[in-house]
Amino acid sequence: MSERLVVIGSQWGDEGKGKITDYFACRADMVVRYQGGNNAGHSVMFNGHKYSLQSIPSGIFNPNTVNVMGNGMVVNPESVLVELQRLHDQGVTDYQLFISDRAAMVMPWHSALDGAYESLKGGKLIGTTKKGIGPAYCDKYSRSGLRMGDLLEPEYFAERLKAAVEEKNMELAMLGLPTFDFQQVYDRYMEIAAILGPRIVDTSDLINKALISDKKILFEGAQGMMLCIDHGTYPFVTSSTPSSASVPVGAGISPKWIDNVVGVAKAYCTRVGEGPFPTELFDEISHEIRERGHEYGTVTGRPRRVGWFDAVVARYTSRLAGIDNWALMLFDVLSGLDKVRICTHYELDGKIVDTPPSTISKLARCKPVYVELDGWKEDITGVKSFDELPDNAKAYVRKIEELTGVPVGVISVGPDRTQTILISEKLKNF
Ligand code: IMP
Repeated sequence: MSERLVVIGSQWGDEGKGKITDYFACRADMVVRYQGGNNAGHSVMFNGHKYSLQSIPSGIFNPNTVNVMGNGMVVNPESVLVELQRLHDQGVTDYQLFISDRAAMVMPWHSALDGAYESLKGGKLIGTTKKGIGPAYCDKYSRSGLRMGDLLEPEYFAERLKAAVEEKNMELAMLGLPTFDFQQVYDRYMEIAAILGPRIVDTSDLINKALISDKKILFEGAQGMMLCIDHGTYPFVTSSTPSSASVPVGAGISPKWIDNVVGVAKAYCTRVGEGPFPTELFDEISHEIRERGHEYGTVTGRPRRVGWFDAVVARYTSRLAGIDNWALMLFDVLSGLDKVRICTHYELDGKIVDTPPSTISKLARCKPVYVELDGWKEDITGVKSFDELPDNAKAYVRKIEELTGVPVGVISVGPDRTQTILISEKLKNF
C-alpha cells in the first residue's frame, strides 16, 4: 500500500505548514499542491538557510522528490519563473517539478483586477494578497479562463487568449485600468511556454501511477481552513478550499486514497487581512507573541493579528477535514508567559455555542470563553521529546487534545527541521 499524507492549515493560514511539509517532504517520493496559488507563502529553514516558496511545492529541495502543481491550483507562470530563479540563486538547481495541464492560469490582468475589486468594496476590504487569485478562480468558474495546457498548443492558445484579452480589456477600460495588447501577451506567454512547456503534463496520471506503485505522497495544502471559500469566515476568505476534502478534485485522484490528515495549528492563533477573529489580543501579550514569533506575512510583510488558541475553530476544522493529528507549531513562542489561555467556547448573544456561526456578523459578536492555565518559563527550543517538556507545557498540550478530541502528533519548538518533536507512531512511519 502506498502512503499518503495530507498536511493542511487548520486556522487562518501561516500556521507553519512550510516547516511541517518540508519535514515530511524529505521522506516523500512526491509532493503535490492541490489548491491556491502564489498567495501562499511558505518559509522553510534548514542548514542555517531560509528559503521561501509561494506556489512551488515544498519537496523542491530534495532532488529525488517529484513535485507536482495540481489542477486545482491557479498557476501564475511568471511567478513560477521568479521562484525558480530565486531557488537557483540559493543553489537549489537539481529538482523535479511538474505542472498540471489542467491548472487554471493566472494572467497579468488578474492582479490588476484583484486590486480594483478591493477598491470597489470601499471600506469593506478583504485584504487579499493582490496576486490575482480570486479573479483567476472567477475566470475558471465562468469558463473564460486559460489553462496551463493551452500553452502547449500555440494556435488554440492564441484563439483563447484573443477572446480573453477582448473580454478583459472591456472590463479593465470600464474600471479605468490599463488594457493589454494581445500580441505582447501572446509573445511573452510563448517565451514562457518554451521554458515551462516540458514541465506541463497530465499530473493526475502521474499521481495515480505513483499511488499504485506504493509511493509516499504528501499533499500540501495552502492557506488555512478558516480561509476556506465554503467553510471559512466568508467573505474574508480565499477563493479555494484548503481542506483535505479538496485533495481528490485538486489532484485528480479518488477520495478513497485519503486517510492520514495532519492539521497544522499554531499554539496560539494569527490572522492577516481583515475579518472577525474571536480570540484576538490587543494588549502587551500580543506584541510579545508577534515579535517572538516573527508574526509578519511572508508574502506581504503585513504584521499578523495575534490571539489565543481557539478550540472552537480547532474542533470545527477537524470535523470538516478529518484531522487525525495536530502539528502544534511555534510552541516555544509561548514560553515565558505567566498564564496561557485556550478558548473553549463562544458566548453569542447570551448563549454558549461550541461551533462557529455561519455569518461574520454573528462571529464578530462571539465572545471567547477561556480556560486559563499556568505558563512555563523554561526555554524549550532544545527539547527533543514530549517527556522533557515542562509540566505546564505538557498540561497545555493535553488540554488542547481534551478540548478538540484530536491527539497532538507533532510539536514544533523552533524553526529548524531538528527542532521537531514527533509523537505520533503513524507519522513516524511516513
Ligand atoms: P487572496 O487569497 O489573495 O484572495 O486573499 C484572501 C484572504 O486570504 C486575505 O485575507 C489574505 O490575507 C488571506 N490569505 C491568502 N493566502 C494566505 C496565506 O497563505 N496565509 C495567510 N493568509 C492568506
